[in-house]
Amino acid sequence: MGKALIIGAGGVASVVVHKCCQNSEVFEEICIASRTKSKCDALKEKLDGGKTKITTAQVDADSVEELVALIKEVQPDLVINVALPYQDLTIMDACLETKVDYMDTANYEPLDTAKFEYKWQWDYRERFEKAGITALLGCGFDPGVTGVFSAYAMKHYFDEIHEIDILDCNGGDHGYPFATNFNPEINIREVSAKGSYWENGEWVETEPMEIKRVYNFDQVGEKDMYLLHHEELESLGLNIKGIKRIRFFMTFGQSYLTHLKCLENVGMTSIEPIEFEGKKIVPLQFLKAVLPDPASLGPRTVGKTNIGCIFKGVKDGKEKTYYVYNVCDHQECYKEVGSQAISYTTGVPAMIGASMVMTGKWKKPGVYNVEEFDPDPFMEALNKFGLPWIEDFNPTLVD
Ligand SMILES: NC(=O)c1ccc[n+]([C@@H]2O[C@H](COP(=O)([O-])OP(=O)(O)OC[C@H]3O[C@@H](n4cnc5c(N)ncnc54)[C@H](OP(=O)(O)O)[C@@H]3O)[C@@H](O)[C@H]2O)c1
Repeated sequence: MGKALIIGAGGVASVVVHKCCQNSEVFEEICIASRTKSKCDALKEKLDGGKTKITTAQVDADSVEELVALIKEVQPDLVINVALPYQDLTIMDACLETKVDYMDTANYEPLDTAKFEYKWQWDYRERFEKAGITALLGCGFDPGVTGVFSAYAMKHYFDEIHEIDILDCNGGDHGYPFATNFNPEINIREVSAKGSYWENGEWVETEPMEIKRVYNFDQVGEKDMYLLHHEELESLGLNIKGIKRIRFFMTFGQSYLTHLKCLENVGMTSIEPIEFEGKKIVPLQFLKAVLPDPASLGPRTVGKTNIGCIFKGVKDGKEKTYYVYNVCDHQECYKEVGSQAISYTTGVPAMIGASMVMTGKWKKPGVYNVEEFDPDPFMEALNKFGLPWIEDFNPTLVD
């Protein structure tokens, strides 16, 4: 069918590459390009020889010029951005200049402000429309599958959805006292920020980790979970008509929180540059350098993730609740693609989203979030490519 250019060669990219190779009818050819070319070459070496042809390249994705040159050389049908959120806009600029479709898994964040919102990327809507190209935003698990679940609930089960609770549970244990399951810098920026939820058309802000609930997750058990701000709240607040409240909860163990608090207290999570031995360093970036590489957690992580959405709304004049979720086993993922479940649950939907655009099922000029497209082919593909979902029509609700 076509060719994709994958930018980034980290934990998520590795899963995307594996999954593209499993879907060689759509991905006849892929080019893996990243800052450190040796990581791209290592992936190629692991997967070469199958039906999908793999090439690699070096690129600094902060440079539009370098990206444009690479896209012109590779001539892909789509660029899959699984580098970091800081590169979203440069890659979108390069796609605009070369008129190539774009997709990513996380919304843009400026490097010097720990704040993520869709404003910057939604500002590209008109330009993408005029250029006749598609941008698919936030197509990992959360955001990503959570938006597809919402569109699916709306399409099949509700006349109106009034409340959504997104529950992200990682019941995995990697055996380290402290490590993050994906890029530590992005992860710590996310969890140390203030929390917020969407209620009656407005944001309600909370202190970090101020709201705690306990939930008994299928196949994982009882876990503490905390309300966080999360990017899909912004797009779902806009795209799910009649919505009154959306909250996002993530589970954290006590040891993780105690370590994080301590690191915060001593200034290690700060993104303000400091002077160190005549050089400017960012404490959080230094912390990243001393923490375990998330890609190395795969072989040691045991347990399961359980991520899904609980919906409350109305169908045919009657109140209704519905819970749809996926359970993913860290060790199973490792056996299949050599990564733990956090990278897996992000990389699989990224490949599916890319295939939706490449096959024309989700192709329309402009900039879109996943819930703006037909969820059915995506839901089918989740079952096929390793993230089957479970439905519960009488779930325990979160108070
Ligand atoms: N939606 C979801 O559910 C979800 C969940 C988890 C993660 N994510 C997102 O997925 C993305 C990837 O996460 P990850 O865990 O795979 O991160 P990662 O392991 O740190 O990998 C990032 C990759 O991007 C490359 N990169 C960074 N800056 C670059 C630049 N200027 N030019 C070219 N390449 C560059 C890195 O290159 P080096 O190897 O040289 O450092 C690395 O290969 C992030 O945006 C993250 O926020 C989304």
